[in-house]
Amino acid sequence: MILFMGADHAGYSLKEYLKSHLTQQGYDIVDVGVYSEEPADYPDVAHTLTARLVSETRPALGILICGTGIGMSIAANKRPGIRAANASEPVSAALAREHNNANIICLGARVVGPELARATVEAFLRTGFSPDDRHHRRVQKLELAGGETQSRTD
Ligand code: RB5
Repeated sequence: MILFMGADHAGYSLKEYLKSHLTQQGYDIVDVGVYSEEPADYPDVAHTLTARLVSETRPALGILICGTGIGMSIAANKRPGIRAANASEPVSAALAREHNNANIICLGARVVGPELARATVEAFLRTGFSPDDRHHRRVQKLELAGGETQSRTD
């Protein structure tokens, strides 16, 4: 599993903390920056990481960190094929994988402490996409513009 990681200045320190733990756990990390706390624009980092992620042929997921996780998630979700979920605790992180097949988790370094962030990321990484048809159908509909979807509620 390749893990792409990126952060702006607000998320830099948390990125470094998580990178250290995830490297020890054997993940193959690709760090797209930033590499210091010099001010950086989160869309630049998100666009760099998502470009790498969608062109990666090996199994891969992404972790994006800014102050809140919000800017990173908005920017990341602009790219087709990206399903970025902003999560602050392990239940949402696991369900983002299980129900939404999220391929990026976004974290807010000004929202979660390092231990909660670590538990949240670990829940994301250890959970797979559900085999249930209904979740696959719903995730396929995420690729459509709103007016193209049909209503179905089972
Ligand atoms: C940077 O100050 C901050 O705006 C950014 O990290 C992020 O929280 C935006 O969503």
